[in-house]
Amino acid sequence: MIANLVLLALPLVIGYLATTIWHRRFKQYAAFPQLKPSLLWGHMKAIHEFTLRERPKIHFDPIFASMAKELGNPPLMFFDLRPVNYPMVIVNSHQVAEQISRASKQFAWSTPKSPTMDALLRGEDWKQVRKRFNPGFAPQHLMSLLPCILDKTEIFVDHLNRYADSNEEFPLLEFTINLTFDIIGAITMGVDFDAQHSESSEQGEFIQIYDRLIRLYGLGDGQLPWWMYPRREWRKYVLSKQIDQLLESIIQDKHAEHQNQQVQQTGKNKPRDVLSLSLQGNTELSKGLLSDTRDQIKTFLFAGHDTTGILLAWTFYELSRSPHVLKGVRDELDRLLGPDSDPAAVRAKLTGPGADELVNSMVYTTAVIKEVLRVYPPAGTARMARPGTGFNVQTSDGQTFCLDGVIIYNCATIIQRDRTVYGDTADDFVPERWLGDSSGIMSAGAEEDAEKRNAAGRKIPPGAWRAFERGPRNCIGQDLATIEARVIVAVVARRYDFVKVGLGELDLDGKGQPTLNDKGQYRVKSEMYNTTQVTAKPVDAMRMRVRRPTLITRGTNKQNIILSGWPAT
Ligand code: HEM
Ligand SMILES: *[C@@H]1O[C@H](CO)[C@@H](O)[C@H](O)[C@H]1NC(C)=O
Ligand SMILES: *[C@@H]1O[C@H](CO)[C@@H](O)[C@H](O)[C@H]1NC(C)=O
Repeated sequence: MIANLVLLALPLVIGYLATTIWHRRFKQYAAFPQLKPSLLWGHMKAIHEFTLRERPKIHFDPIFASMAKELGNPPLMFFDLRPVNYPMVIVNSHQVAEQISRASKQFAWSTPKSPTMDALLRGEDWKQVRKRFNPGFAPQHLMSLLPCILDKTEIFVDHLNRYADSNEEFPLLEFTINLTFDIIGAITMGVDFDAQHSESSEQGEFIQIYDRLIRLYGLGDGQLPWWMYPRREWRKYVLSKQIDQLLESIIQDKHAEHQNQQVQQTGKNKPRDVLSLSLQGNTELSKGLLSDTRDQIKTFLFAGHDTTGILLAWTFYELSRSPHVLKGVRDELDRLLGPDSDPAAVRAKLTGPGADELVNSMVYTTAVIKEVLRVYPPAGTARMARPGTGFNVQTSDGQTFCLDGVIIYNCATIIQRDRTVYGDTADDFVPERWLGDSSGIMSAGAEEDAEKRNAAGRKIPPGAWRAFERGPRNCIGQDLATIEARVIVAVVARRYDFVKVGLGELDLDGKGQPTLNDKGQYRVKSEMYNTTQVTAKPVDAMRMRVRRPTLITRGTNKQNIILSGWPAT
């Protein structure tokens, strides 16, 4: 391995020394805010040093955040990563981030996605393609899929019941991700992934191949360029091909099925999955249509499960340590769905008449989800304008920077904790801050919110919350994700108390009871953090126990509420 490395790297290093350093390294980006670069290693050295100060395996966002702090919170920061990667600019200000994500004179569909994201998000003619798939993600359509989301949630509930009985700890994140995987398979293709089996041999074929593929991405993450690992790259290639073939055969079957049944497919039996909707009106399945469809479906499957699973894991974590938030959610569910929290009763409400009205009325729960996505954003965007484009951004202090040829990363973790926007509570979990946004509380695209003041009397510019990013190429699955999360919370939140184990565990007092800090949250022994594994994942996969609440007291004094469901250990 070492020999390989030296052989491969040597000519490159020499060439790079000769050509790059003296010509470009110090001139082109000299005016950008940045840490002190090293002559040979640019900022690789500084990044390495900052990483060493941190906890093991930590995600890069908090590292960028401490660098921003050291630099006095500039609107953007430059990193010279040559020769292992393109130079990079981290965007810390929402005003600049908006200039990246919106349509501009140069880019009708906003700044192009970075070539580093190629593997997951491809497709040049995406505008046409996205049009074909949009109907499958429209909120009204999604509401017709609530029964399907509830079916999958019942399997999740079975797992929780098992753990409530045994009092064993379990990695919550694995269960939420497998749940959201099941849901995305059903919604995009009408296929049962069987992702929620604990025995992986019983999981669907797609899940098994995907699991093998994704494990390869965890290795040696981003430290060295891909061509340093030929064997790993080859295995990735083989597994990707297998996934392609599997998806193609599903698409072909689906297409054939629709051709045979064209006549009967009206009314209630109409297929509702994204794939079927996108194939409507295409009597012939050309090679091009097949491969376009395959690539899109693949993007939906990849982008649509991890992120939502992470959102759920952090949501249950916050509910476990913020008693007033848990109470707020439970009270809202009682009010909207009635006091019976049995999954069957909730299901009856959410599949009965007015179900979409109910989901839309979950205002507090929605604010909780929005706040989770502010404090724990699972994903971000990386964009890039080709050299010579003349793509400039302005900072609010009137400076102009040309971002041609650099990877641009809108760092949601920094932007969404901006003190000039969120004030002193920028780092705190405060769902109430969103309660004033009566219209489109969740929608990242709702410009009209800009003028609305929230409950705290503070104006939050829409661009300062960008968990799904913004502009024409934002997340297509945002309504699906948030509807999904609301439904799952509606089924689960009143039935179980989650109890963190290990990292982030509650700091109990001498009598075994949790104690509150001045922010109304339980004190914890240590802080949770995330690691990078394609997305930002809680580092311990969110080890938890669950209990059924024992002593349900509602609407009484504060102490009772806090102690409800907390039997002394
Ligand atoms: C909490 C859950 C989710 C979060 C936080 C999230 C976040 C994001 C972000 C930040 C982007 C990048 C947008 C950009 O580059 O400007 C994105 C893109 C995307 N997401 Fe999501 N996402 C979530 C769930 C989903 C789901 C359920 C789907 C299901 C299909 C999905 C499908 C996509 C697709 C297809 C793109 C690429 C859009 C394009 O390139 O045009 N996402 N998402
Ligand atoms: C979830 O799915 C993965 C495969 O994608 C599997 O390895 C894992 O065991 C599953 N976890 C649980 C808790 O079901
Ligand atoms: C990761 O988790 C920590 C919790 O300590 C949070 O503060 C941080 O914003 C998270 N980072 C990302 C990238 O989600």
